[in-house]
Amino acid sequence: MRPADVADPGLADAGRLRIEWSDRQMPVLADIRQRFERERPLEGWRISACLHVTAETANLMRTLAAGGADAVLCSSNPLSTQDDVAASLVTHFDIPTYAIKGEDRDSYYAHIAAALDHRPQVTMDDGADLVNELHTRRQELLDEVVGGTEETTTGVIRLRAMAKAGKLAYPIVAVNEALTKHLFDNRYGTGQSAIDGILRATNILFAGSTVVVGGYGWVGRGIATRAHGMGASVVVVEVDPIRALEAAMDGFRVMTAAEAARLGDVFISGTGNLNVWGRHHFPEMRDGAILANAGHFNDEFELGALEEQAQSSREVRPFTREYLMPDGRRIYVLADGRLVNLGAAEGHPAMVMDMSFANQALGLEWLREHLDELEPRVYGIPEGIDREVARLKLESMGVHIEPMTPEQKAYSESYESGT
Ligand code: ADE
Repeated sequence: MRPADVADPGLADAGRLRIEWSDRQMPVLADIRQRFERERPLEGWRISACLHVTAETANLMRTLAAGGADAVLCSSNPLSTQDDVAASLVTHFDIPTYAIKGEDRDSYYAHIAAALDHRPQVTMDDGADLVNELHTRRQELLDEVVGGTEETTTGVIRLRAMAKAGKLAYPIVAVNEALTKHLFDNRYGTGQSAIDGILRATNILFAGSTVVVGGYGWVGRGIATRAHGMGASVVVVEVDPIRALEAAMDGFRVMTAAEAARLGDVFISGTGNLNVWGRHHFPEMRDGAILANAGHFNDEFELGALEEQAQSSREVRPFTREYLMPDGRRIYVLADGRLVNLGAAEGHPAMVMDMSFANQALGLEWLREHLDELEPRVYGIPEGIDREVARLKLESMGVHIEPMTPEQKAYSESYESGT
């Protein structure tokens, strides 16, 4: 066995069952894995991946190995690791994995450093922490790196900022920009899994409660729609006028963070920005208010200010911390303000990660084929890959779609015919 750092290797058998369960719901990735086994499109590539260490990610790592890559894995969040999966990756799949659920900041960065010690030619990131470490503290490794992929909205924003500042050293494929990624993973994946995390942590009833959603991007939309479907009265807080208008016309109440602070039973933030609710809002919140973060980083709520304002705090249920305020009110923070879906639940279901990770695998293959033409900037997933992932997903669901007739195709490409 190669070097690794996981919580308990004894959990490996439980992890393998979880990986197999998720694999049954990832038919598109399984299909790609079979082809990769035959064609070995990633032969010899050393890959360092920094992703949430879940059963779904395990199936992606198996796919990279099937394609001939020598891949190692560390976690992209201190709280998202499934320890049994990490153990199985090391024990059964010979994938060096560095990840422990609940690790502190030092251990988190030590694990990124260990993944970088692999001297990657390719990076895979979810949030751009590994890429950032590589460009700041491990620049000596950059010469060997030829490309990378990025999974999430927050990471793509950071990478585009790096590219704009002329700091990005190699091309990166933005998996998040595939329609078959963000329209499904960010919307239906987070829409379900964030609520799953809140329910597992608290067991509250959504019906009849007021749920305030911060942000009306794809994540916010998914959460708002699902919360509404469960009978909650949904309020949206949004800074962008067009998105706010959409939220209003989708039937949600739209207001400022300060107005919403007084109304919410549950606050769910998925803005990708910081201090959406902070020091001025906590004194206004109701007794029993629950704060859950669905954005990549744990800074959407100003938790330092909450800690200063509170008299004391205690863990009242797993992943549920109660803050006692001087006036007797209690405010609850889930999963330490980290991604609630991965901290308090199991992340997005495999059925949706199937498409995200199919884009990851096919994005890597595309990167290898086009290395000579690429510059150090952020590239979207090519439309052909996106459509192929959708086609394969529909096929796996047994859904047949209508083909255009030759007459319709000609009509759709013409300009002559009118009234
Ligand atoms: N991001 C959200 N859900 C995930 C999952 N199940 N696996 C990996 N990354 C994720």
